[in-house]
Amino acid sequence: MAKAIREHLIRALATGEFVSGQDLGDQLDISRTAISKHIKALVEMGLDIFSVTGKGYKLSQPLSLLSKDEIICLMPSNGSIPEIEVHSLIDSTNSYLLRRLPNQLSQGQVCLAEFQSAGRGRRGRQWISPFGSQIYLSLYWHLEQGLSAAMGLSLVTALAVSDAIFSLTNIQVQLKWPNDVYLGGVKLAGILIDLEGQALEASHSVIGIGLNLNMPAQAAEKIDQKWTDLQSHCKNRIDRNALCAQLIHHLLKRLHQHQNEGLSVMLEEWHAQDFYLNKRVKLLTGERTTKGICRGVNNQGALMLEVDGQVSPIYGGEVSLRGDE
Ligand code: ATP
Ligand code: BTN
Repeated sequence: MAKAIREHLIRALATGEFVSGQDLGDQLDISRTAISKHIKALVEMGLDIFSVTGKGYKLSQPLSLLSKDEIICLMPSNGSIPEIEVHSLIDSTNSYLLRRLPNQLSQGQVCLAEFQSAGRGRRGRQWISPFGSQIYLSLYWHLEQGLSAAMGLSLVTALAVSDAIFSLTNIQVQLKWPNDVYLGGVKLAGILIDLEGQALEASHSVIGIGLNLNMPAQAAEKIDQKWTDLQSHCKNRIDRNALCAQLIHHLLKRLHQHQNEGLSVMLEEWHAQDFYLNKRVKLLTGERTTKGICRGVNNQGALMLEVDGQVSPIYGGEVSLRGDE
């Protein structure tokens, strides 16, 4: 109920014109006090709404909302177009697709949202997801050969994010094993892969991308590490629908390439963008810290870590990589 009311308010205010509390109350058949409470909730989600006595509520700027039709129109014509859903308010785009497993999804199906109330990072961390200014995208990918085919998916996805950003802006990002996209030395985007199934049976993956485009100041205060957003690096305004179209196109292209040829054909591209390649790093595993030199990744997507002159593969999971200056 609250979700439907808030979605109505967002649509009513989207043009950036004043709308009176009385009119909004009449449209929804609720009191002006109730309207005021829902507006407050929308402000907490990151919407910049102000009120003027006698005039009503107004957004500081018109919203440029995500549109399924526009995204489809903007997708390059040489690729396939998957099923796409766009939500205003959702808990998490990854969780939404996971709830639809196994029968309610088609290969490559995409879920996008304007706002996530429970955006997830790795290992239960929170992904700060303010309304209408960033990208929250999840895509379902069926793994015919079982979970073993999931190795390297986060690297494949990071390369696709890089491809999409480059094709739209000519900006070259850097990639941090196993799941981060960096720009100017700090985090621009994060990738979350959720898996369901058995090693040797057909299984499911949900690939989530959170990409900062226009970080609102209020949301920025909640992030406890250095970050950046794409718009700060680009003079021309970046269109969110165009960015989504490029992300979907390049992700599907990379996933098909991975399915047919494996990760080995992408290693050269990864190494050209690897943030820590040949640098001193620390590997954090729970309480344990291992120091070494990053020697890139192998065919399975494992990090190649040199310790005392010996290079060994480190597989993803409960590990974090940090610089060791
Ligand atoms: P690692 O993946 O190496 O363990 P990480 O600190 O980047 O390191 P993740 O789980 O990948 O951890 O990402 C979640 C973290 O990202 C959060 O703990 C927070 O510090 C940060 N974060 C949350 N929201 C955002 C956002 N919108 N933009 C940038 N960073 C964010
Ligand atoms: C990370 O850096 O730990 C990964 C962050 C992934 C965030 C995205 S936003 C879309 C999708 N839905 C989620 O709940 N998480 C991912």
